[in-house]
Amino acid sequence: MKAMLLISAVALAAGVASAAAEDVTVGLIVPMTGPFASTGKQEKAAVELYMAQHGDKVAGKTIKLVVKDDTAAPDITKRLAQELVANDHAVALMGFGITPTAFAAAPIATEAKVPEIVTAAATAVITQKSPYIVRTSFTLPQASAPMADWAAKNGIKKVVTIVTDYGPGADAQKWFASTFKKDGGAIVEEIRVPLKNPDFAPFLQRVKDDKPDAVFVFVPSGAGAQFMKEFVEQGLGKAGIKLIGTGDVTDDDQVNGMGDAALGVVTTHHYSADHDSPENKAFVAAFEKANGFRPNFMAVAGYDGMALFYHALEATKGDTSGPALIAAMKGAKWTSPRGPVEIDPETRDIVQNIYVRKVEKKNGQLYNVEFETIPMVKDPFKAAKK
Ligand code: PHB
Repeated sequence: MKAMLLISAVALAAGVASAAAEDVTVGLIVPMTGPFASTGKQEKAAVELYMAQHGDKVAGKTIKLVVKDDTAAPDITKRLAQELVANDHAVALMGFGITPTAFAAAPIATEAKVPEIVTAAATAVITQKSPYIVRTSFTLPQASAPMADWAAKNGIKKVVTIVTDYGPGADAQKWFASTFKKDGGAIVEEIRVPLKNPDFAPFLQRVKDDKPDAVFVFVPSGAGAQFMKEFVEQGLGKAGIKLIGTGDVTDDDQVNGMGDAALGVVTTHHYSADHDSPENKAFVAAFEKANGFRPNFMAVAGYDGMALFYHALEATKGDTSGPALIAAMKGAKWTSPRGPVEIDPETRDIVQNIYVRKVEKKNGQLYNVEFETIPMVKDPFKAAKK
């Protein structure tokens, strides 16, 4: 009797041990090389920080992170997503540095019923490409419309828009222009610059001739420094033309290297490393300690993407099925380093504060200093479609 009890106790312990040791793979697909490598670097660092701070055990499972470099090429993203699902049995895919890569993974997420947590790409329509897509980054309409409202209220009447020629740029241009016109402003010209090997100089020369009050810009994270350099070289600032945009152009990964030319640039965005909250101060300090560089808006979205996955797995008590995880993600609310956030249960997009910020020098370093908050902004593209 005693021996039997002992055996069953051992068997039970072994069973518990094997359940506890069950690995759950999360695939992070980001560009680690090429022109968008800063996004991969930031996201990987942030996801790893989240796991280091919260441990790798969730609801009796051990979380295993697998990082893959798609170089921001959609055909590679698709192959990596397929391999992660089929070979590694990944229960969630995360990352997606640019819109075409988020699109490329969508059919795999749908077919395999695996959540695709978009932590970077920001074209509004992305979450409509699969019922398994959830987003923790932002949308360009969400960031662009508030910039137009601020510009119209602050004496800016004539604007030229200049954006990178693909999904998020088109969104930025459309939502800035429609909001600005509704507010009584005028759009003098709308310019699009190629995504690959952008050369802004010839376009900026044209802008100078247009003599607008301001240039509104969207360029993807990683391209801001080059844009700023050419803006200065073409003498637009000296000609009295203001620079405004979504915060992608004054990305925390690059802003400090832009020099004094960036001072005074006003942008709207959901995250600044300078955001004044205890959660952000702790996040920035831990991130800088672990990595030796400042987190940007890609990092905060990666950090929150992993937070959302941990939350969902906890809520399902370890059930890793896609439908259960997605159901648990809908309506999730938490305090991010960026401020309060929520996953809209209808659109699976993030609802968050948008901040108006100005580049200023603090302790010898350039930061986007927030000075106005538009609370809990939903993606206006989806709100308009209802
Ligand atoms: C995108 O491709 O959707 C994208 C990339 C970088 C950004 C914003 C949007 O900063």
